[in-house]
Amino acid sequence: MHIRAARPDEAGAISDLAVRSKAYWGYDEDFLAGSRVQLAVGPDEVGRRRVTVAERDDGVVLGFYALEGDPPVGELSLMFVAPCHIRGGVGRRLFAHAVSTARDVGLTAFTIDSDPFAEAFYLTMGAVRTGEARSPIRAGRKLPRLTFTVSSS
Ligand SMILES: CC(C)(COP(=O)(O)OP(=O)(O)OC[C@H]1O[C@@H](n2cnc3c(N)ncnc32)[C@H](O)[C@@H]1OP(=O)(O)O)[C@@H](O)C(=O)NCCC(=O)NCCS
Repeated sequence: MHIRAARPDEAGAISDLAVRSKAYWGYDEDFLAGSRVQLAVGPDEVGRRRVTVAERDDGVVLGFYALEGDPPVGELSLMFVAPCHIRGGVGRRLFAHAVSTARDVGLTAFTIDSDPFAEAFYLTMGAVRTGEARSPIRAGRKLPRLTFTVSSS
């Protein structure tokens, strides 16, 4: 597996992967339809949002992240692993890469408005709970807001 910047022509496949991954938690069709809109990545956004994919050596994309924003504090706005690879270590590799990217671009920290089911993963990665955010998908739903502090080395 290797990790590389996404290409604009992969935007559609990446957007599909996000929804398939989200469905892993058993959400209903209505929620997933909202997710499809909310999580879509356009070809023209891939660079600005620093979309980065984990790719198997045969070319299959296993997961991706988006790390947005300028120093000092960015946002890990997307982080999705293909359902059949969840709990296989891809998320850990992607998260470590995101930390390295954050350091390279001068972020001292980044926030994550986490799916409630994913919070344990981010806590394991070293993020801490710093607040609450409103779900952009379903009114009234609250999400854990986490912050990861980027060390200098
Ligand atoms: C959250 C997500 C990206 C994590 O990626 P992953 O590849 O499954 O994570 P890893 O296998 O690298 O897990 C690393 C460690 O984090 C912890 N962890 C991961 N998922 C966890 C979970 N659901 N509950 C508790 N701990 C978890 C474990 O300690 C794990 O190590 P282990 O497998 O040796 O026990 C992935 O589960 C996912 O895409 N989920 C569906 C979509 C989603 O909710 N994305 C996040 C949106 S904010």
